[in-house]
Amino acid sequence: MSLTIDLNGKTALVTGSGGGIGAAIAKVLGIAGANVIVSDVNPTTTEETAAQLNAKALPLDVTDSEAVDSAISQIVKDNGSLDIIVNNAGIYNGYGGPIVDLERERFHSLMKVNVDGVFYCSQAAARVMIKAGNGGRIINIASTQSVSPGVGVSYDSSKAAVLQMTRTLALELGKYDITANAVAPGATWVAAPGDPPPIDIEAAVPRTGEPLGDQVASRIARIPLGRWGKTEEIANVVAFVASPLASYVTGAYYNVDGGWLTL
Ligand SMILES: NC(=O)c1ccc[n+]([C@@H]2O[C@H](COP(=O)([O-])OP(=O)(O)OC[C@H]3O[C@@H](n4cnc5c(N)ncnc54)[C@H](O)[C@@H]3O)[C@@H](O)[C@H]2O)c1
Repeated sequence: MSLTIDLNGKTALVTGSGGGIGAAIAKVLGIAGANVIVSDVNPTTTEETAAQLNAKALPLDVTDSEAVDSAISQIVKDNGSLDIIVNNAGIYNGYGGPIVDLERERFHSLMKVNVDGVFYCSQAAARVMIKAGNGGRIINIASTQSVSPGVGVSYDSSKAAVLQMTRTLALELGKYDITANAVAPGATWVAAPGDPPPIDIEAAVPRTGEPLGDQVASRIARIPLGRWGKTEEIANVVAFVASPLASYVTGAYYNVDGGWLTL
């Protein structure tokens, strides 16, 4: 006997999946047999990633509530159902300073994507899932910052909100057999063209091309597994939560962080 993650017959939307962790999630869900819809605010990366994965492409800005509603209705029309939504789209717009110095616009622009976007997409998805009556999976990409602050008021607060929204959704949607869970990456290497592979932490540079700051280096040094996470390591946990193997899991928070939160 063997155990497999089987998503055949399921349609999955992954927001912010033009690159990074989202693209890895789209790839792994596709490998598990799902009919995957790659979606990103960037139409070019949406099309390119979808083509690479042999998946469908749907450019979408998650901060546009009307566009979200119509995209999700269209998915149901075109595919017969929406069974899985992975709310992955998220931004980090820099530290911005302590609260006394933080520009309000910087705070609001991050909240718009990281919190409003998850709300709009979860609401639209829950509505169509309830109507279809076949249950469903809502998977929110949170962060270790959901429970352990450290990168600034805006991002820390946004990811805490994502975690608590997930738990409320679990409470409200359980009676429809719709589960809601949070998967929380720790420091995860998101490769960009020209980046070195994340083998040697000392030599690694972030996407800006500047040397890693002391703060980031010391955070990595604190990780019990001693290295950056890989995007597919986040995606594998998402695939489990999306699958029938996780049928009794809801309101859960999975930190995929190499053990960082144990310290
Ligand atoms: N990489 C990490 O170390 C890490 C750690 C913890 C949590 N996360 C979370 O994982 C998720 C993915 O992050 P990533 O590291 O892959 O980042 P990334 O920047 O590589 O990918 C984010 C994607 O979201 C898209 N996006 C941005 N705004 C959008 C919008 N309004 N509508 C739709 N798409 C939009 C971007 O175009 C991009 O493709 C985010 O929610 C992030 O907060 C990442």
